[in-house]
Amino acid sequence: PTPAPAPSYAINFASVAINTNDTVTVPTGYTVDVLLKAGDLVEAGTAFAPGTFPTSVSQTAAWAGGNHDGMEYFELSGTDPNVGGLLAINHEYPDLNILFSGASYNAATATQAQKEIVLSAVGISVVEVAKGSDGKFAVKAGSRFNKRYSGNTDYRVGGPAAGVIGTTIRGMLNNCASGRTPWGTYLTCEETTNNYFDPSRAANGYGWVVEIDPYQELAQPTKRTAMGRFSHENVAYLSNASNRVAFYMGDDSTPGCIYKFVPADAFSTTNRAANTNLLDYGTLYVARFNADGTGEWRALVQGQNGLVPGAVDPGNVSQSTTPPAPVTVNFATQSDVLINCQSAARVAGGTIMDRPEWITVAPNGQSIFVTLTNNSGRRVTDAPNPRVQNLHGHILKFRENGDSPLATGFTWEIFLLAGNPSLTEANLKGNISGDYFSSPDGLRIDPQGRLWVQTDHNLTGNAGTLSGAASNMVQAFGNNAMFYVDQSTKQSKRFLVGPTGCEITGIAYTPDLKSFFINIQHPDGNWPVSGQPPRSSTIVVRRTDGQPVGN
Ligand code: FEO
Ligand code: CA
Ligand code: CA
Ligand code: CA
Repeated sequence: PTPAPAPSYAINFASVAINTNDTVTVPTGYTVDVLLKAGDLVEAGTAFAPGTFPTSVSQTAAWAGGNHDGMEYFELSGTDPNVGGLLAINHEYPDLNILFSGASYNAATATQAQKEIVLSAVGISVVEVAKGSDGKFAVKAGSRFNKRYSGNTDYRVGGPAAGVIGTTIRGMLNNCASGRTPWGTYLTCEETTNNYFDPSRAANGYGWVVEIDPYQELAQPTKRTAMGRFSHENVAYLSNASNRVAFYMGDDSTPGCIYKFVPADAFSTTNRAANTNLLDYGTLYVARFNADGTGEWRALVQGQNGLVPGAVDPGNVSQSTTPPAPVTVNFATQSDVLINCQSAARVAGGTIMDRPEWITVAPNGQSIFVTLTNNSGRRVTDAPNPRVQNLHGHILKFRENGDSPLATGFTWEIFLLAGNPSLTEANLKGNISGDYFSSPDGLRIDPQGRLWVQTDHNLTGNAGTLSGAASNMVQAFGNNAMFYVDQSTKQSKRFLVGPTGCEITGIAYTPDLKSFFINIQHPDGNWPVSGQPPRSSTIVVRRTDGQPVGN
């Protein structure tokens, strides 16, 4: 039987103070458990041990990779999902601290063994997790679901570019944030379009959304080329009563556009296997934001919207008041459009945004939020990107016409401008009420409609002027943190502060909302194990009295 979802509740936690402590700080009455560190075992083998470094991929292939990022929680048939399930976790980059003495890596001089080791530390981990009698979640060692997919795994290629880039690609890379499909597969997003760990590997093989079935029932992991090649951040979907669906995606480039992919067919709710290649057929669109608060989805289809041989790409017009020289691009086939997607988006009139990171869709389908993390280089503003030298970023909200995933138009507004009201510069103050932040990145609306925001500010980067002196991001905003933001009052409350050096990313939860899974990426102090190298980790945040998180 499916357990009842959490009863509706109001946010009640006491804000955590801004801080620079080398620990995870949560509100009074909450506790933090470390669930899976970089180098812990996912598959059978020998885990990382401090003081020794691996010499072969045979040692690291079984480990959790590094730089944990987006993740999703999946229910397991026959298991109460509030006490057990599957976690799929992205590994964006290796935790070099645990791979090599001296922690440096140079692709030009690396040995084949070193290339294989670093490539084993990206990709994803799937782990079965279960709550023990002590209330703590732990990885279930030996579960048949525990599996690594890495930079050394082979991936099938699906969609229009399959024949062009090859039918199989070795490795996925820079697995940034994530999403899921309505049929229970995991979508992991490659944020880079080149393999900088091993440049000898095929061009155009990276920068795709990869679909992986955590239950290992459906086809092998597949790069879905119909969804376009760019610096993919995450995926979030909106579906309707007829099981038609749209997948929203941001291109975290400086700068990049916002996209949606609409499969041509409805998904099946009764036959999972029937959805196997649904993501190979459909229409990719780019968002154009008009100054009047309306917007359009422009199809990225060869032959439409200027996507023809000899098309003129205006280039990145946002970073300089002197426009760049236009470039001629030949869009002769749909695969040309998908492989050169960033160029196609500009040709088609897509709006160049301040680095779109996560997108989330409200459970009622009436609002879609996207973080625009920052763009210090912006020199030419427009309505949806209103600040030059946008050091602190903003959050934009849009709504599809008719709340339909198939809509070709939408309305939009700026939800908030991030910043610190104490900064001297008017354009860096932002308009957050309550606990201010910079560089929103992760965000997710939970099943009860609450908006959670995670930050990734550049710790030593310029934040502006505080008390008459130049300040860096840590001085102006403390360590990276996670916030609850009320959608009506826009009041922000700091829920969690990370240890030194880290960004906070990844949000997943059990259906009762009593256990929140959160990732601590690239800590650089003594966390999580004192006296050992710092390690990126998945943590579980819960209340000691067993009530839902945030209540
Ligand atoms: Fe991997 Fe754009 O964050
Ligand atoms: Ca991110
Ligand atoms: Ca970021
Ligand atoms: Ca990162």
